Amino acid sequence: PVIRREDYRAPDWLVPEVSLDFRLDPAATRVLARLEVTRNGDHARPLRLDGDGLVPLVVRIDGAAAADTWRMDGPALVIDLPGAAHVIETEVEIAPAGNTQLMGLYASGGLLCTQCEPEGVRRITFFPDRPDVLSRYTVRLEAGEATYPLLLSNGDRTDGGGLEDGRHWAEWRDPFPKPTYLFALVAGDLAANRDSFVTRSGREVDLAIWVKAADVGKTEHAMAALKASMAWDEQTYGREYDLGEFNIVAVADFNFGAMENKGLNIFNSRYILADPDTATDGDYDGVAGVVAHEYFHNWSGNRVTCRDWFQLSLKEGFTVFRDQQFSADQGSAAVGRIENVRALRASQFPEDAGPLAHPIRPEAYMEISNFYTATIYNKGAEVIRMLHTLLGAQAFRQGSDLYFERHDGQAATCEQFVQAMEDASGADLAAFRLWYAQAGTPRVRAAISHEPASGQARLTLGQSVPATPGQPVKQSMPLPLRVALFGELTGRVLAPEQVVVLDGPTKEVLFEGIGERPILSINRDFSAPVVVETDRSAADLAFLSANDDDPFARYEAMQQLMVDTLVVAVATGTADHAPVVEAVERTLTDPALDPAFVAEAVLLPSEAFVGDQMLVVDPPAIHAAREALRARIGTRLEEAWRAAYARGQADRYEYSPQAKGLRRLRTVALGYLAAAGVADAAALAFAQFDEADNMTDRQGALGVLANGRSAEREDALDMFYERYRGNGLVLDKWFTTQAVSTRDDCLDAVERLARHPDFTLANPNRLRALVGAFASNQRAFHDASGRGYRFLADMVIAVDRLNPSTAAKLIPPLGRWRRFDGARAGLMKAELRRVLEVPGLSKDVFEQASKSLG
Ligand code: ARG
Ligand code: ZN
Repeated sequence: PVIRREDYRAPDWLVPEVSLDFRLDPAATRVLARLEVTRNGDHARPLRLDGDGLVPLVVRIDGAAAADTWRMDGPALVIDLPGAAHVIETEVEIAPAGNTQLMGLYASGGLLCTQCEPEGVRRITFFPDRPDVLSRYTVRLEAGEATYPLLLSNGDRTDGGGLEDGRHWAEWRDPFPKPTYLFALVAGDLAANRDSFVTRSGREVDLAIWVKAADVGKTEHAMAALKASMAWDEQTYGREYDLGEFNIVAVADFNFGAMENKGLNIFNSRYILADPDTATDGDYDGVAGVVAHEYFHNWSGNRVTCRDWFQLSLKEGFTVFRDQQFSADQGSAAVGRIENVRALRASQFPEDAGPLAHPIRPEAYMEISNFYTATIYNKGAEVIRMLHTLLGAQAFRQGSDLYFERHDGQAATCEQFVQAMEDASGADLAAFRLWYAQAGTPRVRAAISHEPASGQARLTLGQSVPATPGQPVKQSMPLPLRVALFGELTGRVLAPEQVVVLDGPTKEVLFEGIGERPILSINRDFSAPVVVETDRSAADLAFLSANDDDPFARYEAMQQLMVDTLVVAVATGTADHAPVVEAVERTLTDPALDPAFVAEAVLLPSEAFVGDQMLVVDPPAIHAAREALRARIGTRLEEAWRAAYARGQADRYEYSPQAKGLRRLRTVALGYLAAAGVADAAALAFAQFDEADNMTDRQGALGVLANGRSAEREDALDMFYERYRGNGLVLDKWFTTQAVSTRDDCLDAVERLARHPDFTLANPNRLRALVGAFASNQRAFHDASGRGYRFLADMVIAVDRLNPSTAAKLIPPLGRWRRFDGARAGLMKAELRRVLEVPGLSKDVFEQASKSLG
């Protein structure tokens, strides 16, 4: 059954107050619910309480056992009610220990915890499980005190105490009305890193990050990020925290990154735990970014929530934008932007160009869990960023203030967000709304012409938005393009940056007083999420990569130069490497540049990204061309790489932006030396691996070794395994490092690793570490035999029996068959068909596989 946005109807019944009483036990948990329900509007429809796999043991209406006034309609409980307000009580029994979906109430490493977004509450109790029904919750938890000394829920703890038989209880009250998806509880034996924060209006907030006792020492970075986020949101958006407590819990088995439950965020432990020995610099950034993201949801998501799931990007796009702004303010803004765009291009662009393309506000879904996508999150964030660019920081802030004030306590829509921005700024956003409605990545053609005699330069722009499933014809969208011109001869800025809004199919912009040939810098800072096509020469791109004053544009010019070179190499079997080598050399040896930026700028685009530029992807040819260019850059610049490598050698680990940048550049340099095949490459890598006092250097060296064929490689992999076999998060890295290897036996290794005793389908992190990582390894996954496809489909089928939403996330790589040659496409389609033939397939996997097959 397909759910459509246009079918939205306000809820028939509201639940202003709810009390939940949990008698917790992993095998059999009793849930008693007391709902105060009120009829919403003038209608005679019954009360419908969603359920999923629940059996009502008790149903009472206004205190009386009611037998003939309720019935089951499939999984839902339907009750005929005479009046305008009633009290409904139900009781059910659930088995968290057997919950392998990790949705609802489940067990993880001795804990009991919940995940309710989007529709998990219906697996816990009968309730109108939709985001526009907001309730005040009182939650009573009861459990055995020895196993579950800690009992947490949303809001503030109001009471608690001991009971007979070694049991105890706690009561929690959340004064803020919230939808079901923000409900949470945790019971377990955990220790806390405690701290406090005083909000700018003087509220004292007790902060606690709860983890296994042995992990408390790994929570400092998360705590620092939490406090920084709280201060940042006050300063940047005027948003204060609103409860007396803020609790974060880390769990090992979690379907995604983390969850913003009101006052009780629950995290995948990989986004909380970090120390130098076990977490890389990238992991540290991930922790800070996700802690900030979930904290920011307290306003963009919780205080103002979503009317229905079609509005998901209202909270997710906006919150990703907010966490990106936060991270840019904390570290290197340039590197942060490069990483945002790299992620968008790696996952959202392919989604937008394939069978699963959807607008950031979708029109229909079968299973909402399938719509927690890069489009909703990352393109959604780019759309908010464009508003910020078009309105300017000040008007944008006035718009967000108005939005929060107008809709506080409400379940809102994307339209209401845009309306608030429009009302506060006075801007006309009529055309901008197309960004919510149209899927597909716009393509922009840009050309600059110059008349030396008149000193005029003319920028000609054109756009087209490609057809996507269900949307054959598109309208032009307003695209804010940051543009500047540089002089070829003098290197001077000829036209300082301005925002050109391409708001129709074409546009011309005239520049006066341009005395020398201008070089075009466009979509600076990636101001619009589009593909820009220009006919800039290799020389122009090299010029920009060395001289542009926008770091993103500089990175972008280098990437374009590299991509152009690789595309020619794949098409013709040969290419002139010299312009890339020279441009890399210039960047690598420019003492004015931040090493963190240099490290990103000199990296070649991924094989997958090169594939995305081609009509028919040829994985082995792309691999060969890219490896040849890597080797050339490595060989030609050996001295410069050795210098960068030596410069990155620190006496002692330090966590600072400078130290991070040097570490990053050091491992990039090591990778190029290995690509060059220098005689001491494996020895250098092994020494770095063995002597490292931090995970960034150790894993960086392991990754370089893993791509090669040295005796050191096997030693390092074994040593790494032995050292970290007790640490799941680090073991994930061991699996991933081998799954993304560029070696030609990678697929064999992955098949072997899937039989390793430490591999399990039950833990989503482990699954992503091996299977997800492998599917992103273009050459290995697209092995001409089709074994990679078969492996992935086998995994989808096996995981679907345990955890459908996680299984469904593995499918998109198979849906890219249209981009490959007939033989590969046929093999990919055959695997999709095989998946679809499995009896009892979940709707999660059915939706993704059937749409992918087309
Ligand atoms: N709201 C959570 C976050 O963005 C993620 C929830 C994901 N849920 C899902 N069904 N995929 O932080
Ligand atoms: Zn989110």
